[in-house]
Amino acid sequence: MPAPNIDTIVSLAKRRGFVFPSSEVYGGLGSAWDYGPLGVELCNNVKQSWWRWLVYERDDIEGIDSSIILNRLVWKYSGHEATFHDPLVDCRECKSRMRADKLEGYFPAGDHAVQFDANERLRGGLVKCANCGSTNLTDERYFNMMFRTTLGAAAAEEDPAALAYLRPETAQGIFINFLNVQTTMRRKIPFGIAQVGKSFRNEITPGNFILRTREFEQMEMEYFVKPDAEHLKLVDEWVELYVEWFKGLGIDGRNLMLHEVPADELAHYSKRTVDIMYRYFPERPEEERQWEELMGIAYRTDFDLRSHSNKPVDEEGNRVNAESTEDLSYFDESTKTRFYPHVIEPAAGVNRTVLAVLMDAYSEKTNDKGETRVILKLAPQLAPIKAAILPLAKNKPEIVGMAKAIKRSLQPTLRAVYDDTGGIGKLYARQDEIGTPLCVTVDHQSLEDEAVTVRDRDTWEQERVKVSDLPEHLQRRLQQ
Ligand code: GAP
Repeated sequence: MPAPNIDTIVSLAKRRGFVFPSSEVYGGLGSAWDYGPLGVELCNNVKQSWWRWLVYERDDIEGIDSSIILNRLVWKYSGHEATFHDPLVDCRECKSRMRADKLEGYFPAGDHAVQFDANERLRGGLVKCANCGSTNLTDERYFNMMFRTTLGAAAAEEDPAALAYLRPETAQGIFINFLNVQTTMRRKIPFGIAQVGKSFRNEITPGNFILRTREFEQMEMEYFVKPDAEHLKLVDEWVELYVEWFKGLGIDGRNLMLHEVPADELAHYSKRTVDIMYRYFPERPEEERQWEELMGIAYRTDFDLRSHSNKPVDEEGNRVNAESTEDLSYFDESTKTRFYPHVIEPAAGVNRTVLAVLMDAYSEKTNDKGETRVILKLAPQLAPIKAAILPLAKNKPEIVGMAKAIKRSLQPTLRAVYDDTGGIGKLYARQDEIGTPLCVTVDHQSLEDEAVTVRDRDTWEQERVKVSDLPEHLQRRLQQ
C-alpha cells in the first residue's frame, strides 16, 4: 500500500527529519526544501546505488563532476539561451501566474502535433486557470528558465561579458568534456559518461513538495554511440534497464508507466524521448492525472557534440560555431572514419526518485492493541539507518554499556544508531517509521547469554542471535 498522497509524505518527512521547509525561520522560501539527517542519507544512498550500478558494475561508463557555472557560450551553443523557455500566463481573476501549456484546454483535443495559435485559444476562453477555473487569462509570453548571475566583483549587473548561468542540466558539462574523458581513459565507442549534481531552473510553477523545485539534483548519463547505431532501439533498452533499476529500489512496477513524448513536445535536441512516469497522485480520480515524470530517456542525436565543435559549416559554408576552439569529433580506428557520436541520454532526478521511493515504501499496520503504525518499507540499501541498537532498560548501566559497545562495533561496516529516548514500544515504532530494517535489543538476559534480540521491521518477528554472530547475521539479512 503506497502513501495515499504526497501530503502524507510531507508530514512524515518533516516529523521524522527527512525534509524540512527551507528558511522556515524567515517564513520559508516558496518550494525550497532542506534535507535533514535522514533525508541526506536517503539521497546519498539513491545516488550511490545509481553510481555503483552504472559506473562500477558496468564496464562502459566513466564518471565526472563538472562545474555548475560554465562559460556562457556553452548555453548559447547548446540552444538553451534561445529555447529553454516556458510559456507563461497570468489569471486576471485570481492573479495566479502559471505555465500555460499545463492548463486544461491549452492544446486542441486529439492530435498534439496539430498546429494551433495558443493566444487565439486563450482569448477565446478555451483555457482554464488551474487555481480558480476562470478563463480570463492573459496572452502567453515566453520566460527563459535559466538563473542568471554575473561573474567578478567589478562586473556591472547587465555587463554581457560577465553574464553567466547556473546550469539547468548537468548534461552540458559532460558534452564539453567528451574528448577529455575519451582520450584520457582511452575509451572506444560505445561508452557513456555519468554525472550527478545540482541543476537550477527558474520554474514558473514549482510545487508538489520536492517534485518540482528551482534547485534540484540530477543523475544524468550520456551514452555515445555510432551515427548508424539503432538509436530508437537503444532508447527502449535503456528504458527497460531503468525500469528494472527503479524496481530494485523497491518501487512497484504498477506505479510506473511509460510515456512516449509527442513530437511537438520534444526538447529542441531530441528526436525521441520516452518518459518513465510515477504515480505521484494516486488520490486523483482520473487515472491519467495521477502520473508525473520521474525521468526521461532521450535520443539527442549528435546535436550537442556538433554544435560545440568549431568545424561544422552551414549550407553557405559558414562555421556554425566560430567561438569554439575544439572539434569534438571522434576518430574510429576500426573503420578509419571520423564522426560526431550520437547520444542516448537517460536523465533522472534524485529528488523525484527519493519522493517515489518514499511514497512506495509507505505502509500502515495495526498492532495487537488496534493502534495504527506507519512502516516505511525502504529497500535495505536505501534505508538511512540499517540497524538501531536499543537497550531494554536505560537505567541499567551494564545494559546501556553493552548496547553502546555493540553500536560502536557495527558502525565501521553499517550505519547503526543507539537510542534510549523512550520505552521499547515507542523506540520500535520510531524506527519502523523511518525505515530502519532491523532493531537489536539488549535485555537483562543478554548480560548472561551474550545474545540479543533482532527484530524485523516488516514482520515484527524477533530472533535471538549471539553477539559474536551479529555482524554477519545483520549483513546477511540486509542483503536479502
Ligand atoms: N538533460 C536532459 C534533462 O535535463 P529533463 O527532463 O528536463 O531532461 C531530467 O530533466 C530529470 O530531472 C527529470 O525527469 C526530473 O526527474 C528532473 N527534474 C527536472 N526539472 C526538475 C525540477 N524543477 N525539480 C525537480 N526535478 C526536476
